[in-house]
Amino acid sequence: MKGKFITFEGCEGVGKSRQIHLLEEYLKANKIEYFLTREPGGTGVSEQIRSVILDGKNVDMCDGCEALLYAAARVQLLEKEIKPRLDRGELVLCDRYIDSSFAYQGYARGLGVDFVEKINSYAIENFMPDYTLFLDLPPEQAFLRKGGVDKNDRLELSGMEFHNKVYGGYVELSKRYSDRFIVIDASGEKEQTHQKIITALKQKGII
Ligand code: TYD
Repeated sequence: MKGKFITFEGCEGVGKSRQIHLLEEYLKANKIEYFLTREPGGTGVSEQIRSVILDGKNVDMCDGCEALLYAAARVQLLEKEIKPRLDRGELVLCDRYIDSSFAYQGYARGLGVDFVEKINSYAIENFMPDYTLFLDLPPEQAFLRKGGVDKNDRLELSGMEFHNKVYGGYVELSKRYSDRFIVIDASGEKEQTHQKIITALKQKGII
């Protein structure tokens, strides 16, 4: 893997999309080339899988099916978009990746990190992120900030207990993978958080 692979993680409503947008503006202003994608999604097939996973009508989807659909969307995105770019030495940014599966399906759904790792091993091979920026904000504060739950989003509808487990999962992951996890305190103003992200990426020699 010749390029650099950076992923962004966090609970719903932490301001992840906004921070990625601010980072894009910075990269453009500084003429730094990058490719941005997201999970689940980023290819035609993966976006179709996304709509099945997130569809609020699919209330009877079992946890194993959910985990496998995320892995299926992931392998398609890797094959078609991420791997070729990393092989060419490019900078790839991804809004959510394997750590979302660890936190949501592994910890919060209770499938376990080892199981999630097992079903993803075919999908990702050795394509792990160089660094993972975890935007750290507990769910209560995050939902307050985003103005409540999106009632059409199956994952957002899962309830506070679920989202607290997701958050706890991320905190565990940041210890388990401390070599690649960068914890960004996201409780401040958006500009402060943005500066923390820029500083961290500079320190790691990414930008
Ligand atoms: P999205 O609307 O993109 O959420 P956000 O804006 O917070 O990133 O929806 C993605 C949802 O899918 C989100 O609830 C997290 C969840 N998810 C998983 O449960 N497992 C995964 O592997 C991935 C990639 C996402």
